[in-house]
Amino acid sequence: MADILKLYIRTSCEWDAGGKENGGARQKGSSFFNSEAGRSHFFSTVSEGPTRSLSRSLKMYKIQTLDRISAVGLDNFPRDEYEIASEIMKPDAILVRSHDMLSMELDENVKAVARAGAGVNNIPCKDLAAKGVVVFNTPGANANAVKELVILGLLMASRPVIAANKFCNGLAGKGAEIATLAEKGKKDYIGNELKGKTLGVIGLGAIGAQVANTAIELGMNVVGYDPFLSIDAAWSLNHMVKHAETLDTVLAKADYLTFHVPETPDTKGFVNANTIKNMKDGVRLINIARGGLVNNEDVLAAINSGKVSCMVTDFAAEELLNNDKVICMPHLGASTPEAEDNCAVMAVKELRDFLETGAIKNSVNYPKCKMDNAIPKNGTRLCIAHKNVPNMIAQFTSVLGEAKLNISGMVDQNRGDIAYCMIDVDGKVEEATLTALGSADGVIKVRPIYA
Ligand SMILES: NC(=O)c1ccc[n+]([C@@H]2O[C@H](COP(=O)([O-])OP(=O)(O)OC[C@H]3O[C@@H](n4cnc5c(N)ncnc54)[C@H](O)[C@@H]3O)[C@@H](O)[C@H]2O)c1
Repeated sequence: MADILKLYIRTSCEWDAGGKENGGARQKGSSFFNSEAGRSHFFSTVSEGPTRSLSRSLKMYKIQTLDRISAVGLDNFPRDEYEIASEIMKPDAILVRSHDMLSMELDENVKAVARAGAGVNNIPCKDLAAKGVVVFNTPGANANAVKELVILGLLMASRPVIAANKFCNGLAGKGAEIATLAEKGKKDYIGNELKGKTLGVIGLGAIGAQVANTAIELGMNVVGYDPFLSIDAAWSLNHMVKHAETLDTVLAKADYLTFHVPETPDTKGFVNANTIKNMKDGVRLINIARGGLVNNEDVLAAINSGKVSCMVTDFAAEELLNNDKVICMPHLGASTPEAEDNCAVMAVKELRDFLETGAIKNSVNYPKCKMDNAIPKNGTRLCIAHKNVPNMIAQFTSVLGEAKLNISGMVDQNRGDIAYCMIDVDGKVEEATLTALGSADGVIKVRPIYA
């Protein structure tokens, strides 16, 4: 209770200071912010500004959840600073999984959207970038779940456990004879070991790298192919994973091939008659990435000719069903509670880092950006979303110079047409200065975070 009282007294004092600031001039057509000590929020210059609710006076960030989000993730929001609800006025940020946001009108107070998952085709990322809303996803958070299913796929492609289980079920009613019949029948379900075989991994990102490393631990030879390999992925790879220069090298060497690339116009139908032709006879295919990567007709033809031994896929399709050489699963890759938890934990961390420090990591529409130091004591961090055009920094420094504010740190990163600047200044930035920054040509949004 004492703590709550202390918090209330502290925030009430700050509230008065914020109230005075609120009288700054507004310019039609640009975006700027209204600030409160220790917290910040944007509002459109054409509106009357946000109504200060009780929660706002207590400096609560508001998070709207559009889907059911794992409680393990939500628990990482300190409840004395964050209010979380599926229906909430003027949210600062949105947490989403698969809810369709494409035609959703967002409140102008929304600063960020975090998707607990990898794909973002339910979010209008480009439009939101133009409004200064940063969209995050959680790459790699479900990688372990997918990796484990791939390992199961490799094992199922080697040991005919599904057919063997069907055989055992067929012994129902045979009573005491079952053990003998089972022993007798097992010769039809012989498989092979993974150890010593060669696995080709196409795409060495979050999932592919984990698959490659685990396959090494299982005693496989692993050859990876990824012409766009990131530095992070390269560091995470076991040194025994061989990196192939060309796709054909992998195709020619692999006893098993597993695909971990996104489906794009370049990779659509990637497994087709032409690529299959360059594969080893009897190759086994594992596709837990996307159904569109594989031309099913071509694979079925190759299965019939014996060129391909079998395919394990997470993407059921009419033509693939009830084929002894094809194992279909109903998109189970990331279907574990652990993956949901990991995605939610990562999404919450991304939102907190952004709201509390301005840092951007794993955004799909804004550049990665971070200040190594904390916000200066009694100072202000300005987070400015702007167009990636000349003269932006000069405008910012000129406005801050006129306000006699010392800049103690600055970083500016860009991504295509969009850029994001973080400026630390000693001292509190007053409303007039914030308004001037918000009115500068090319500025999309300005947000102050106070120490
Ligand atoms: N079955 C499921 O439930 C499930 C779950 C999660 C992800 N996925 C799929 O798995 C894919 C991989 O996920 P991730 O998290 O590892 O993604 P990621 O972005 O970390 O890795 C993708 C990798 O593919 C590489 N790549 C792109 N084009 C390539 C090409 N033409 N040839 C070779 N490499 C190429 C990239 O450089 C990158 O390293 C995703 O695109 C997604 O579609 C499926």
